[in-house]
Amino acid sequence: MTTTPPLHGLDAFALPIRQAVCAAIDVDLALISLERPRQEELGEFALPCFRFAKQAQMAPPALAAKLANALSIENVSCEAVGPFLNFKIDANPLAQTIVTSAQSSTYAGGDEGLTTLVEFSSPNIAKPMHVGHMRTTVIGAALSRIFTHLGHDVKRINHLGDWGSQFGKLVAAWQRWGSEEALSATPIAHLLELYVRYHKEEKEDETLAADSKQSFQELESGEENQTRATWRKFTEISLVEFNKVYARFGIEFDYLRGESWYEGQLDDMINWLDECGVTELSDGATIVNLEEQGIKTPSLVKTAHGTTLYATRDLAAAKSRWEEFAFDQSLYVVGAEQTLHFQQLKAVLSRCGVEWEQRMEHIPFGLIRLTEGKLSTREGRVIALGDVLDRSVELAAKSIEEKNPELPNKEIVAEQIGLGAIVFHDLKHQRQKDVVFDWKEVLSFEGDTGPYLQYTHARCCSILRRAEKDVPSINDIDFSILEGGRELWVAIGRLPQAVREAAIKREPMLIANALLKIAAAGNGFYRDNQVLGTGDNDLEKARLVAIDTLRKTLALGMRLLGVPAPHEM
Ligand code: ARG
Repeated sequence: MTTTPPLHGLDAFALPIRQAVCAAIDVDLALISLERPRQEELGEFALPCFRFAKQAQMAPPALAAKLANALSIENVSCEAVGPFLNFKIDANPLAQTIVTSAQSSTYAGGDEGLTTLVEFSSPNIAKPMHVGHMRTTVIGAALSRIFTHLGHDVKRINHLGDWGSQFGKLVAAWQRWGSEEALSATPIAHLLELYVRYHKEEKEDETLAADSKQSFQELESGEENQTRATWRKFTEISLVEFNKVYARFGIEFDYLRGESWYEGQLDDMINWLDECGVTELSDGATIVNLEEQGIKTPSLVKTAHGTTLYATRDLAAAKSRWEEFAFDQSLYVVGAEQTLHFQQLKAVLSRCGVEWEQRMEHIPFGLIRLTEGKLSTREGRVIALGDVLDRSVELAAKSIEEKNPELPNKEIVAEQIGLGAIVFHDLKHQRQKDVVFDWKEVLSFEGDTGPYLQYTHARCCSILRRAEKDVPSINDIDFSILEGGRELWVAIGRLPQAVREAAIKREPMLIANALLKIAAAGNGFYRDNQVLGTGDNDLEKARLVAIDTLRKTLALGMRLLGVPAPHEM
């Protein structure tokens, strides 16, 4: 891995501070990490001195005091507070460095060239994409953008659920009761209805089970028969629906590879497992025992009837991806309810002795709940994702009608606000926590919401528009005028670190939080610093640059999360 520390934002000051400390106490630079002081007023960085007190043979507060006296760092002052040494960046270099860094396009970096696979969304065909699929889609897309921004070579993979015995059932159901008319009117709803009916009637009528078994055998035979053609048609119909959702979110995939894509590799997979000596027979089925790996449930890779399973296809997919991409990391953005499945997947590969298994990582996330309860198909209440998006856009349109009925392109902006609200609401939560979905909260223009960020961004655009001139060059401004924007510069200066940490922890929430701080500081800035109409040209120029820096930073962060940034709203 190549990790040259990128010096963006506040990091430009962190390195010289660490180097100075390193020279003064003779500790390896890598061990000197800076934290955030407890209160913003204390400065931008803090060094907890107790970590080095033992080696220095001094009590932590004494060491902090000694260092405060000894250190002399350009543009940075330091002060000991108890066992902490706090660093405060001088106002002028702070404004200048942060503005310059945020204005440049090469904004973050460090891990150029790593190959990162992000598998996300992966809905099941012939079923509606429901709200549960929203989290994987939104989180996976955000992570893909974040890694791309940091210079990784990202491969976005959609592992569609398009294979398995349930599709035998579906085709058999279609042959019995399918209606072309219903299929073209409400395609997915019709397929779901057929499937549910089959599932139910199967219990009373034995011929159904036999039919679906035969259909699946026809599918698995690999021959181009009627069953396969029907299955393919269902896949295509489903994709039309899924693509509508992806288009609205502005999401693309590099590889659309459903489970069926690995069909031809499944026999080889089982053979490979046999060769590795990890398989056993259990009641006619082929399993891999994982007890030594600390997992009680063995992995079932082939049923007694000789059919393969979800797990077999995931094993084949993992191996095929390794052979094709030689990935540095391979992430699976899939709900926490599949944790055992991914533990088993990795454990099987580990038993096979492959090193690359360690580069695979399940990225779980919590459930999404409406204020009235859980949103799952299992409880019989399917809330289609498209309907949720429509509702959000409808509410956004209503609020535009109330607040700004003259707005041009109202429909486009309503779509941007509606979608942005939902995406941001999802990403502002810690990934593993459940998300409670309350419409009032999602769409509020105040508080920690997407529309609040969008509004702040649009305010900046409006100021820049009204200035009726190009944004001045940063070489043309007097940075001392911007010294008062300390809170804003610090907030903006922390974004690059938030982006990097979001990548390391696979946690887009860190960017969401950083953006909320930036927006809050930005709102304070333009409230307290009149930009236009002061009659002071230098002041106006510097403040226009400030507003432009704020706008660009918000736009960057929102783009990474997938929150649209309209110029007017
Ligand atoms: N299709 C599955 C579902 O909707 C998710 C697939 C997750 N990815 C995987 N490689 N198993 O539940």
